[in-house]
Parts: sequence; C-alpha cells; structure tokens
Amino acid sequence: MIYLDWGATSFQKPPQVAEAMMQALASCASVGRGGYAQANKAAEVVYDCRKRAGELFGADTEQVVFTSNCTHGLNIALRTLLKPGDRVAVSGFEHNAVMRPIYAIGARPVICGRKLFCWEDTLADFENALRRGVRAAVFTHVSNVFGYRLPVEKLAAMCRRYGVPFVVDAAQSAGTLPIDFRRWGADFVAMPGHKGLLGPQGTGILLCRNGGIPLLFGGTGSRSMEKTMPESLPERLEAGTMNVTGIAGLNAGLRYLQETGIAAVEEREKRLLKIAEKGLSGKGFRCFFGAHQSGLFSFVPGMGCEEMAQRLAERDIAVRAGLHCAPLAHESAGTLHTGTVRVSFGALTREEEVWKALQEFTKISSD
Ligand code: ALA
Repeated sequence: MIYLDWGATSFQKPPQVAEAMMQALASCASVGRGGYAQANKAAEVVYDCRKRAGELFGADTEQVVFTSNCTHGLNIALRTLLKPGDRVAVSGFEHNAVMRPIYAIGARPVICGRKLFCWEDTLADFENALRRGVRAAVFTHVSNVFGYRLPVEKLAAMCRRYGVPFVVDAAQSAGTLPIDFRRWGADFVAMPGHKGLLGPQGTGILLCRNGGIPLLFGGTGSRSMEKTMPESLPERLEAGTMNVTGIAGLNAGLRYLQETGIAAVEEREKRLLKIAEKGLSGKGFRCFFGAHQSGLFSFVPGMGCEEMAQRLAERDIAVRAGLHCAPLAHESAGTLHTGTVRVSFGALTREEEVWKALQEFTKISSD
C-alpha cells in the first residue's frame, strides 16, 4: 500500500518499535509497584524514555509527563490555565482537541490569524489579542489540515513579552520539526506518541513547566498515605498503572529519530512537498501550498473529497478526507463546506510512492 495518512498516525513504524514492545511485554511488570527485577526493568524503560524525550525536546526529565495521547495532554494544560469566562487567544487553525476543551471549560476563544501561510497576519492578530488581555494563548505548531507551520518561536517570544502563559499543540510537528521547550518558555507542549514520534497509539507526552492540575486522581506508587496527588512532577499527572509496553515502543521510536536526526525527517518531508506541488500544478485541483508548510498538504478535487479518498483506498492509497476534526481550520481557509483531501508524509515515505499517488490522483479525476 501507499500510506499517506501520517497526519492521523504513523501506521508504518521502524521494526524496532514492535520489537521493543514485545520485549517489554516479556520482561516488564509495573513501575513503582515493587522492588523486584521485573518492576525495576519497567521503571528503567520508562525512565529511559522520559530522559530521551527530555533531551530531544529541551526539557528536564521530570518535566516529561506521559499521557495517553495529545488530546489528553491538551486537556490537562487547558484545565490548568483556564477558568469559565476567561479569554484565550487561539490560532485560526486549531483542532477540536484544543477547541472542545476550551468550550467545555466555558472559556472564550479569541481567534487570531485566519490567513493560511501568512505569518504577518497570525502575528498581528495575536499581538492585538495579547495587548487587549487574555488569560492564556494556545497555538498549533503545524495545522493538521494544511501543514501551515505557525511562527511558534515568534509567538512564544510575544507571549513571554506580555507575560501570557501559553500552550503549544505539537501534534503534527513532534518528530518532524525542532521543539525547544526550554527556549520557547512554554507552560505546556502537548504531543502524541503515535504520529511523528513513531510510537504506538495510546502514548503521548506533555511537557510541563511547573506542574498542572491532574485530570485523573489515583495511585502513583508514592506518598500513599496522602489524600491528595503528589505535588511533584511527573507523578502528579500520572495516576494509575502506566502504559509500559507503549512507552517501550515510544522509546524505540525516539531512539530511531535521534539516530536519523529530526532535521533529516524535515528535509525529506520538504522534498516530498515540493514533488507534490510540482506534480499537481496545472492538473485542475485546488491545491493548498504555501511558504511556511510542513509535512502535509490539502487539495480539493473536482469531485467529492470523500469519494476521491474512497477511490484512492480502492487503489490501496491511504489519505484522509473531510474536515479532519478541525472545522476552525477549514473555516479559516474557506473549505468548511467542501472539506479537503489531505495527503500527509512521514519519516518512512518514499519519493516513488508520492509520484505514484500523484499519477493516481490525476487518473481518478479524469476517469
Ligand atoms: N488529528 C489527527 C488527524 O489529523 C487524527 O488526522
């Protein structure tokens, strides 16, 4: 098959990921629940992954909290920073994983930057909102629909200047673009383990500067006499038995990225985007390519997006069509009523796969 749905998950993983998971199943018990060899082994695997993630993303080891996905991390971050009625600056390209928790809390989003691939527009709108006063800011690093790479470093510096706490949703950038938690000065950065980080589903990471309000309360294997969750990270935000098998797989994914180099993944994806842009030009599709783009693109074919995706699936080509759980992004780009077909690349996507898929797009649309 030709897998071009890395924005949804990294269905294809380096073989080391499954191997590490099998090893963990055979050798690991539960972290912090015993002093015997298998419990110690589990603690070792989890610590190794935490440390590696800290090194990759510029965080202290204890600032790395394991979550079950990116949405889980975003919920912790937003519940910590926002109260009902608070104004919160968000980009015009946020996913429902950001917007729905904001609405559930009863906070009021101030939408900043509606123009696709336009840093000036994004920065000017955020500056305006921050100047008028907001409790917090939340922005995606890369739009999951259009691949628009937001000016995260500049937005981070702006938030620091205004003293506004902020959250970065790194769902589509972790593993593909550099993330420097310490330098950004973010309060939280949330990321999934199963996309660019090449781990299994059911894993995620939340980088936390100073703690956070737990979503889950329960056992941590520490301070068991206390009625409240420990104050210290990471255990404050990690109630219940840990997903040791998943974390072992995630650790193998992170090791693969360290060895390959995140810059090399970024280069590969840039090259693939260029091929796609060139290959689709003049073919009659409405394509969304721009200056600040990373890892994926969207297009509107001359037929229904779902139909296009279905016809591609029949040819063993996987893409995602529709609204991609991000109606705000589609509204910003003017595609709310049509949706788009999204094509997303990953660390293992090959050039010849992209060429072949492009040919099929054109064939299907001229059938
Ligand atoms: N948010 C993921 C996507 O964009 C699941 O497909």
